[in-house]
Amino acid sequence: MSESGKFDRSPAWEEKLFQVLYRLIQTVRIHRDNNELVKLCLSDFHDTVAKLDIEDELSIMISDGRFFVQGERLHYRRQIARLINTMLEFFNRRGLRGVIFHSGVKEAPHSDLLAFVRLLIQSGEKEDSAAWLTRNIEEAGFGWVTVLAGEELRHKQMDEDLRVRVRTAYFLALSAVKEVAQKISYQGYAGVRKARRMVQTMVDGLEEDSAILLALSAIKDYDDYTYTHSVNVAVLALSLGNRIGLSRSSLEHLGICALFHDLGKVEIPREIITKQGELTDDEREIVQMHPLGSVKQILKLNASHDLKSRILLGPFEHHVKYDLTGYPNVLFKKQVSLFGRILQIADFYDAITSPRAYRAFSLSPDQAIRTMLEGAGKDFDPILVKEFAIMLGRYPVGTLLELDTGEMGLVVGYGEKAGVSQPQVVLLQENEQGGFQRGEMVNLFEEQKEGGTSPRKVLRSFNPASLGIRTQDFVA
Ligand SMILES: [Fe+2]
Ligand SMILES: [Fe+2]
Repeated sequence: MSESGKFDRSPAWEEKLFQVLYRLIQTVRIHRDNNELVKLCLSDFHDTVAKLDIEDELSIMISDGRFFVQGERLHYRRQIARLINTMLEFFNRRGLRGVIFHSGVKEAPHSDLLAFVRLLIQSGEKEDSAAWLTRNIEEAGFGWVTVLAGEELRHKQMDEDLRVRVRTAYFLALSAVKEVAQKISYQGYAGVRKARRMVQTMVDGLEEDSAILLALSAIKDYDDYTYTHSVNVAVLALSLGNRIGLSRSSLEHLGICALFHDLGKVEIPREIITKQGELTDDEREIVQMHPLGSVKQILKLNASHDLKSRILLGPFEHHVKYDLTGYPNVLFKKQVSLFGRILQIADFYDAITSPRAYRAFSLSPDQAIRTMLEGAGKDFDPILVKEFAIMLGRYPVGTLLELDTGEMGLVVGYGEKAGVSQPQVVLLQENEQGGFQRGEMVNLFEEQKEGGTSPRKVLRSFNPASLGIRTQDFVA
């Protein structure tokens, strides 16, 4: 079958080209020029390009959010989707529409190739990346390569499309969990197709731009707490899982696990769930049965044995602490599973930052993170909780800030500038009804345009709920 090439399963040369280019960029990013790995990646790139039958030029272009090589849309295996998306993001961030290597690239010395890759990386820190890059390539006299600047508008449009897709998946996941919980309690069984599809869309979104999905975890809904909480735990767990490099199929299982981790709460009487004030010992005992309840409910799902077996353990363990205290009481003294440890962190964070009927206050996200770091190695897996803290940043999305300018701002996302991630803050303006409305959007660490030159300083942080602010009116 290889005659037509159609059924040939070995990766196509286009894929190989992206792999060597990707590896080259990543290696140059972290190593010095004379590093052995850098040299190896340079020769790899050089050899790959030299082997290609480039008569005239080799073009890599982006159109409608996809790569085209020599004018043909790039097809690639699923395994390298993340790599391709990272490359897309790399190009997009620099406002590049494409790169054309001319036949002279085969003769270009390694030192020139290296200098080009360095320029490519550095351009990400410049104001007008593409123009800066073009100028520097010209000045260096690299006639073997041309970069093409893209139209910024299109990238903005792509970002917007992704934002809409991810946000839609968030709310559909919410209705999917609700539906499953309701069907389970009324008819004793429920399918998981919709939930699974939503998790897949979330994982896709994560691969394209993890910040968009993460920002949604700041949504808190007091009335629909259990369901919003379940989706937030999924978002946080998936983001952490993605950060530590879990495979796509593991991420999908982790996401489903997270959506159903509290499914056992359907067995708890409503008056206990909504009770204001302290629980009695008996009531607490009932509440603490819910991880086991989740296992029982998951077993009732209409899903394959294989899927169910992969999503049982995490929910069972999500209240077991790193030092094996917590509940349920685990008899076998062995470490909590990876999914269990991830869920426990995501669950705890969302729970203590969510306003609840029985609690007068909830922690602001940055206070929550500090509290959790204090429990590293005891309550939480020390490595995972640190990764989680880095992932959420100094002021996680959903933190309300009082600034030295007298302004109040809500952190709604993170942007990258000069390689440093910067909290994006919506300044809040009081409206006539005594509430707040959306004001200007600023980068927290950036210099102020008017009324001063130094960046704004944070005086205090709050949980937005303490001022009656609904984060969902402002994020994403
Ligand atoms: Fe729970
Ligand atoms: Fe939970």
